[in-house]
Amino acid sequence: MPDPLVVVNCKTYSTASGAAAEALAVQMMSLETSARMVLSVSPLDLAPVIAAAPDLEVWTQHLDPVGHGSNTGRIQPETAISRGAAGSLINHAERKVSLGHVDELLAMVPTGFEVCACAADASEAMALAHLAPPMIAVEPPSLIGGNVSVTKADPSAVSDSVDAVRSIDDGIRVLCGAGVKTGEDVAAAVDLGASGVLLASGVTKARDTQAVLLDLVSML
Ligand code: G3P
Repeated sequence: MPDPLVVVNCKTYSTASGAAAEALAVQMMSLETSARMVLSVSPLDLAPVIAAAPDLEVWTQHLDPVGHGSNTGRIQPETAISRGAAGSLINHAERKVSLGHVDELLAMVPTGFEVCACAADASEAMALAHLAPPMIAVEPPSLIGGNVSVTKADPSAVSDSVDAVRSIDDGIRVLCGAGVKTGEDVAAAVDLGASGVLLASGVTKARDTQAVLLDLVSML
């Protein structure tokens, strides 16, 4: 089985933007773990974060399926890739898009570029699975930013999504997120069939980020 993923989404937290994002990236890059660590940053931070932590896998948080030209304010995939993005979230609960947007994006990005499409529940995960993204992350919106992990509050949202996606395409890796904060939560996610976790506040609001990162991977 491939190594479990721990994807940290910086969102727009001040503790994970600009110089703080660079420092977090260095901490994640230096972690001794078998887990696949990924930092999902603002597109504004892609180049400096990658310069600071060249061996870390860095994603952006959103992309628009547009080419070069008259597309003011859009995040253009080729430009993000040229700045070092190895992947992107799409359709995050805080940045919803249409299924068509996801489909067009998938058609534009090169093979090997990771696209992690977010879903609120098993039924959205199933709809996304028909588009065959490399990854799907299930995150019940009501649990995002909270203190109880989805793996405890709604474990069936995780296992049902894993089953639903597998029934369509067992090559898609399913992550889970919302309230994930500890190594126990990560282990529970893996036990429920997930390939890893997507989290934010557990890291971005931590007093001791290093201790949280170590704990997150401690049971893998
Ligand atoms: O993308 C991660 C996410 O929305 C979960 O956030 O703060 O509950 O870990 P959080």
